[in-house]
Amino acid sequence: MSATQQELLSGLGAPRGIWWRPAHKQERTWIAIAFVWCLILFAMMPFWHLKGGQNPSGFRSRVDPAAFAERTLRFVEEYQVGEVNGIPLVAPPPGADVYLLAQMWRWYPALRLTEGVTYNFHFSALDVNHGFSLYPANLNLQVVPGYDYGLKITPNRPGEYRIVCNEFCGIGHHNMLGSIVVEPAGASPSSATPASAAFATPSDRSRP
Ligand code: CUA
Repeated sequence: MSATQQELLSGLGAPRGIWWRPAHKQERTWIAIAFVWCLILFAMMPFWHLKGGQNPSGFRSRVDPAAFAERTLRFVEEYQVGEVNGIPLVAPPPGADVYLLAQMWRWYPALRLTEGVTYNFHFSALDVNHGFSLYPANLNLQVVPGYDYGLKITPNRPGEYRIVCNEFCGIGHHNMLGSIVVEPAGASPSSATPASAAFATPSDRSRP
């Protein structure tokens, strides 16, 4: 092995190159641009969390899944107004604590809310992680067993919303649909959407 080869293969000797020369002005400019851009992106994270209006600022607390399920049942008992496909339909009063339980493979119960009214939502799961995804509003959050996720929600657009599970949770994952109907402010309960329509699946909707 020649001396040059030995030098090339050794990690002990400094490699040949031009790295010790001062950086060219253009290179320094680009590094400065990249650095400033990094700072902007870094600042955007807290800024967008506060100003972007897209990250729900709820809080989580620990909860025993069985205790949460029991609270959900009590909530259903108190405010149930009907039934949708064997799942109770619940219409909580303004400001009520609303419990929504995710379990393989359903969202329990179905909800009827009023536009412009604030509710204290509690989300939790009985068994595994589920994903709460509200269509077509594009609200997404994780529903985790053992944790009660509290979130103040004020529906601002009447309509029928579908809850889709967006976290793979087993063989029935794709069938895990729930329903939230938001009635226009001032509407009488008798003008409620028929419960069956609230659970329309995409194929149901495309039918004439
Ligand atoms: Cu629940 Cu997927």
